[in-house]
Amino acid sequence: MTEHRETAEEALEELSPDEGERRRMQEAYESIRDRALEDLEEYDFEAQVTLVGSAARDTWLEGDRDIDVFLLLPPYLDRKEFQEIGLEVGQAVFPDGRVEYAEHPYVQGVEDGYDVDVVPCYSLDDASEVQSAVDRTPFHPEYVERERFEGFSDEARLLKAFCRGAGVYGSDLRTHGFGGYLCELLVLHYGGFQEVVEAAADWTPQVVIEFQTAERSHDDPLVVVDPVDAERNVASVVSEDSLATLIHHSRQWLENPATEAFDVEEPIPVSEEELRSYVEGRDTYLAAWVFQAPDVVEDQLYPQLRKTETSLVEELERQGFDVIRSHVFADDRATLLVEANVGRQSKVERHEGPPVYVEEHADEFYRKYEDSDDVVGPYIDDGRYVVERPRRYTSIEEFLESDAVFDLALGQNLEREIERGYDVIVDEELTSLLDEFAVELASHLRPGL
Ligand code: UTP
Ligand code: MN
Repeated sequence: MTEHRETAEEALEELSPDEGERRRMQEAYESIRDRALEDLEEYDFEAQVTLVGSAARDTWLEGDRDIDVFLLLPPYLDRKEFQEIGLEVGQAVFPDGRVEYAEHPYVQGVEDGYDVDVVPCYSLDDASEVQSAVDRTPFHPEYVERERFEGFSDEARLLKAFCRGAGVYGSDLRTHGFGGYLCELLVLHYGGFQEVVEAAADWTPQVVIEFQTAERSHDDPLVVVDPVDAERNVASVVSEDSLATLIHHSRQWLENPATEAFDVEEPIPVSEEELRSYVEGRDTYLAAWVFQAPDVVEDQLYPQLRKTETSLVEELERQGFDVIRSHVFADDRATLLVEANVGRQSKVERHEGPPVYVEEHADEFYRKYEDSDDVVGPYIDDGRYVVERPRRYTSIEEFLESDAVFDLALGQNLEREIERGYDVIVDEELTSLLDEFAVELASHLRPGL
């Protein structure tokens, strides 16, 4: 056995659930299924209940406690009925369950320690007829069941845990990484964990894997055409950075196989001392914009925070500030953290006008500023009129505390929270965030792979 294989097998011992665990999961599912079926009997249509996701395909990771149960409802139900029935059944199964909202509402509950999603979908003959975003999901276990090879589950578990260790596991919109089904497809395509990693080490985007000919073009860095739906790219959420991260970790593994590659490293929370010495030692400018996080799911929250972050950083750069790095994180409150090389500027701003030869515009510029008391100039430099006028915002803090923030592209649900009020926290005052964000701050203070 090669060193790579030996290391992978050693890691597998920790990744595979044992017989007892499998039985427990199966029993939990059966109990949920029976309660759902019993409730569905009240309706005058045929409906089914099915297990999907990694629990259905024997690819879940030891300790992962998530069961995805789908209700297959008739395609002739209109949206409203479909949603109402879906919720009603979900709540019959879990009277204490929570209603969550993705494309449509569904119920989350807990069964014997497992986190269970009860999700309604339309029952279709073919996954290309999808009406709701989740309708193709029940086709995935069928496909994997048909195509799986001996030892498939182990290979899938290795790749999933490897992605998790690299911080790029999950198709959620916070991670923008590799989901479970995508990992399984990669294993089917390349033949095993090691083969996926060998291929990934040499990937150059755009990487295209066609289980069937794509029915439309995608501009995503990774395209894996869903074998059950030619229109769908299973890897559509994978960001360029997640792809690059997997490429990096693949090369590391090939060079030096270690079981740590499959471990999740819990970041050490940032201490007050560490934060102070970071701020002093780097002598950069740190500013945190902190407001109440809106009550929406992470898949809605994070895209909004990132959009706001991008807009803020672009605007700060336009104002002459020089941002090194920024981060977003959320708990009860949401924080946009900006670290800048230049976060404070003088009270004046150089403002260039047109070359004096461009008569009309030049005249206009000159007249606008010739009698202003608060500018220096106009004078001529390089054939242009130039003035030095008062700067609007002399620090990032001043910018954030002004109404200018409302001109940023704020996420839909953020605007209201920001209007209600927010804090701007600068430099060593950031220690006041440690109670809530000591772990999240670690990813800023110690970024890495
Ligand atoms: P999960 O995110 O629970 O993935 O989605 P998983 O395969 O069960 O993996 P783990 O072990 O829980 O992490 C459940 C199923 O929903 C479909 C896939 O069929 C997936 O297996 N799905 C989910 C998608 O097709 N696309 C997505 O972006 C997310
Ligand atoms: Mn799952």
